[in-house]
Amino acid sequence: MSKTLQAIRGMNDILPEQTPLWRYFEGTVAGLLDGYGYRQIRMPIVEFTDLFKRSIGEVTDIVEKEMYTFEDRNGDSLTLRPEGTAACVRAVLEHGLSGGGQVQKLWYMGPMFRHERPQKGRYRQFHQIGLEVFNLDGPDIDAELIVLTWRLWKLLGIRDAVTLELNSLGTSEARGRYREALVEFLTAHLDQIDEDSQRRLKTNPLRVLDTKHPETQAVLVNAPKLADYLDEESRVHFEGLKARLDAAGIPYVINPKLVRGLDYYSKTVFEWVTDKLGAQGTVCAGGRYDGLVEQMGGKPTPGVGFAMGIERLILLLETLEQVPESIARQVDVYLCAFGEQAELAGLTLAERLRDQVPGLRLMVNAGAGSFKSQFKKADKSGALYALILGDDELAQQVVGFKPLRGQGEQQNIAWSALADHLATCVVQD
Ligand code: HAM
Repeated sequence: MSKTLQAIRGMNDILPEQTPLWRYFEGTVAGLLDGYGYRQIRMPIVEFTDLFKRSIGEVTDIVEKEMYTFEDRNGDSLTLRPEGTAACVRAVLEHGLSGGGQVQKLWYMGPMFRHERPQKGRYRQFHQIGLEVFNLDGPDIDAELIVLTWRLWKLLGIRDAVTLELNSLGTSEARGRYREALVEFLTAHLDQIDEDSQRRLKTNPLRVLDTKHPETQAVLVNAPKLADYLDEESRVHFEGLKARLDAAGIPYVINPKLVRGLDYYSKTVFEWVTDKLGAQGTVCAGGRYDGLVEQMGGKPTPGVGFAMGIERLILLLETLEQVPESIARQVDVYLCAFGEQAELAGLTLAERLRDQVPGLRLMVNAGAGSFKSQFKKADKSGALYALILGDDELAQQVVGFKPLRGQGEQQNIAWSALADHLATCVVQD
């Protein structure tokens, strides 16, 4: 017997019942970003593996164990993108978009791939909307990124459910000095920390700070603090950001353990977290990466950005019952035609209505059928009204206008008056 065909674990179909909510979400974000002057960029889903190794960092979970990497027919090592920043920087460099200090405010949207252990809110193919800004080095732009997400949470009705966590990782020199102090401290407590942290101590010591291991966490209580090693420049930058968030009335929590799982960050890092989704509570995360462009072969170019996880935000909208009712209805009007002549007239009538009533969502019955079966389909479509066209209506040049959701009685409406009628009762609905 042949094996049933199935999607790959952790890679989900987004079914027609769910796509209206996705489109609402994506449309809301796109509209918001238009309002702040961000422009969309679209990068390929596959890049050379080296791009991710060089940017995200060789000793990160993503590069060490989560990438979908394969050899193509030329023998090149390619990887399905695990995130968008690396590819965005590559595209910006390749097309000279950041040359001469040009400011770029970009956004992208699409699938990302990480071979993680799937669970609620964590998938192997997931979707992000990301923003990246180049050539602005002040805290004002860090603040703008946060302000615009704050506005988004309000638009979506989820503001009360998310908290902003902030930290500063300092410049790479400051981080280097801190790393040394941390390694010295943890080496002195080596027998008290877990095995994974012992390994990280050698490869990527700052990641020990976000360990989930309780004993290691207990040891870390007395560890040197990154904040005490911050250089003046980063400190002033961080104070500048906090002052702007205070002015904008945006609450935040300083989380000294926030180090992020990608190596390219410096100075500001932040995460929007919720306690409504269980273990996978980070819905949006990012920070500044002032060294990345240079590290990738470009001129020194400050950069800052973030990405939000669409699946997690959709889950949050559903959990908080913040799904607007209006998006559930995908059809306004269903046209039923009985007999061949009525079908022909219905076809042209429907096209005329689509010309005359912008935004109208009109479904025409296909596959003929009895009164009963067409009404059943009309009802199932979710439409508010059915238009009925049979021989009698045809002779009188009218349609039967039948409310399907209990908004009044059926009535006949002349073809010539139909567009105006639909415009008032459907489109402005
Ligand atoms: P990230 O923290 O790896 O950062 O991912 C950003 C967001 O993507 C997460 O907060 C989460 O909402 C979502 N996400 C990540 N992994 C998964 C997964 N397996 N399943 C579902 N959702 C997930 C980045 O990717 C950086 N490129 C962000 C950035 C842009 N920093 C600067 N610019």
